[in-house]
Amino acid sequence: MNELKSKRHILVTSALPYANGSIHLGHLVEYIQTDIWVRFQKMQGHECIYVCADDAHGTPIMLRAQNEGITPEELIARTDLEHRADFADFGIGFDNFHSTHSDENRELAEYIYKGLRDGGHIAVRTIKQAYDPEKEMFLPDRFIKGECPRCGAAEQYGDSCEVCGATYSPTELKNAVSAVSGATPVEKESEHFFFKLGDFEPMLREWTQGNHTQPEISHKLDEWFESGLQDWDISRDAPYFGFEIPDAPGKYFYVWLDAPIGYMASFRNLCNKREDLDFDTWWNRDSDCEVYHFIGKDIAYFHTLFWPAMLSGAGFRTPTAVFCHGFLTVNGQKMSKSRGTFIKARSYLDQLNPEYLRYYYAAKLSKGIEDLDLNLEDFQLRINSDLVGKVVNIASRCAGFIYKRFDGQLSGDCTEPELYAHFAEARTQIAQLYEQREFSHAIREIMALADQANQYIDANKPWVLAKEEGKEQQVQAVCSMGLNLFRALIGFLKPVLPKMAEQAEAFLNIEALLWEDIATPLTNHTINKFKPLMTRVESEKVDAMIEASKEHLQENTQPIKSAPQSKIEPIAAEIEFDDFAKLDLRIARIVKAEHVKGADKLLQLTLDLGDETRNVFAGIKSAYQPEDLQGKLTVMVANLKPRKMRFGISEGMVLAAGPGGKDLWILEPHDGAQPGMRVK
Ligand code: MSP
Ligand code: ZN
Repeated sequence: MNELKSKRHILVTSALPYANGSIHLGHLVEYIQTDIWVRFQKMQGHECIYVCADDAHGTPIMLRAQNEGITPEELIARTDLEHRADFADFGIGFDNFHSTHSDENRELAEYIYKGLRDGGHIAVRTIKQAYDPEKEMFLPDRFIKGECPRCGAAEQYGDSCEVCGATYSPTELKNAVSAVSGATPVEKESEHFFFKLGDFEPMLREWTQGNHTQPEISHKLDEWFESGLQDWDISRDAPYFGFEIPDAPGKYFYVWLDAPIGYMASFRNLCNKREDLDFDTWWNRDSDCEVYHFIGKDIAYFHTLFWPAMLSGAGFRTPTAVFCHGFLTVNGQKMSKSRGTFIKARSYLDQLNPEYLRYYYAAKLSKGIEDLDLNLEDFQLRINSDLVGKVVNIASRCAGFIYKRFDGQLSGDCTEPELYAHFAEARTQIAQLYEQREFSHAIREIMALADQANQYIDANKPWVLAKEEGKEQQVQAVCSMGLNLFRALIGFLKPVLPKMAEQAEAFLNIEALLWEDIATPLTNHTINKFKPLMTRVESEKVDAMIEASKEHLQENTQPIKSAPQSKIEPIAAEIEFDDFAKLDLRIARIVKAEHVKGADKLLQLTLDLGDETRNVFAGIKSAYQPEDLQGKLTVMVANLKPRKMRFGISEGMVLAAGPGGKDLWILEPHDGAQPGMRVK
């Protein structure tokens, strides 16, 4: 790779996370992969700019905001803060993080659209779609529910059946209802704008043959060409949260039209802040700069067909490459809320050091698109043995002697020049592996070097030498050598472990390490006192993270599956007195309380309301034994619509207070209250 010799100008992006969900460990595969690559490029001395943004438009975001009684702008502002904090705490070093709901994006989206339209690449056609007459909006497939046309399973969404796996169009669903209002959808016509992807077939065929995608994706592209490039519907009718299409009142750009343009918009926003960056230099058709998009394999179609075609049609350069990665599984299975393996970034951060995860992902990632598994036992073993046991151990075995006996002074020359040269020469191979996104291979090489460093120290036993007369100089030489090998390892690991590297730099008393610095060892140099750089992964912390990630079943039965990711806890919006008055609160006697087989959090309660009994599932198992509840009075919401849950129908809700876990108390009215009494 001779590019490494001259300074490159590299723009890198990760996919823009949706603004209606929290960042979870699945997303982080991508942001960590990208961040490692970017930090590696920066260490090489290249100009490398990493931009991202929140993907803020679309129906799920609009409806989510409505459900919470806030504006979409408020929702995206709140998510923006949350996402930024999560990314910062995982060490994701964006040069800019912006939003697709921004002026820059509106201007660029309009510009690109007009370019395509004026070039004759937009068609207008009338189509029929499902419409919710009550909510007065067209319904995306995911917002229509009904019975599967193949197997008859109830409560399936408009595009596919989760029970039998069938895919179909929403019009085929039986007894379809709108997931938004419950109304029966009707068919309604409206005019839509289409991007004529087929116009770009020659350009796309050429682009895909130019090594811009991984072989697996090129293969997929061939299949897509085979089945024919369809026109792409890029408009949505009001009400919609997005940008209105120029010269088409009431029509909005479909979220996926302006989402990738968000990459450019974030970069333009950065250019506005930084004098040394010129947007056109990077995006003009003949630009020498490189542009890379890191994405998950689920969104390859958008990035390898629509996106290059849009750019080309509007007169911009196309991406240098699109890098796809696979999906995360946890303990060998899809992430699951009930198993507690749908882990949000914040739930992880509450318990564990983010660099453990960065290292673990690096140790598993390659340039391919296979899925990768976070096995929590392996995770713990791996961090403890590699990072704590091998890498940090080298420094802790050597630092004390140098600091205490030699005033922190390293030897005047390198004791084992050959051994050091072996480490220094590994620069080339490890750099190539990082460049090619073969991170797991790079980590294997680095750990092999760590083993050699430990063998060197074991063979020379400074702790034995230290007890012998006249071996002072040897102790200093061996420990200096050990610390130099440690420094090289830290340099190699720095793209993966930026925080630990920073602490190691402070301890070694050196400037921020660049890749080329690894070539020469430190001599005649004074180090600082050693502080432990990383502690072992504790099982209790891992368990606590899983426990905190287990969600109440009730949350799984939300009427709207707004996004496949996890949710941000809603802030309860203010309600009117009339809303409050609608609550029918009643005293109930718990006549029976039982465990529910297979449920981690629920107890099944039989409640006596005086003239009727109700079956209620309550998420209070963490705080109560069933036998302690029997006979007690409590307060329930008696007019809550019955909800179908995995274990049966729940006919109301009991009121409880407290933060959760053991600290949860059901409300217990004073004696004298009678089942059925209204609570005022
Ligand atoms: N908003 C779109 C992307 C627009 S880019 C112009 C989107 N957002 S997302 O929040 O659903 O996903 C963001 C990225 O995270 C995507 O690249 C997606 O593939 C990736 N991942 C989401 N879940 C993932 C896993 N479980 N595992 C690995 N990557 C995952 O798609
Ligand atoms: Zn089915």
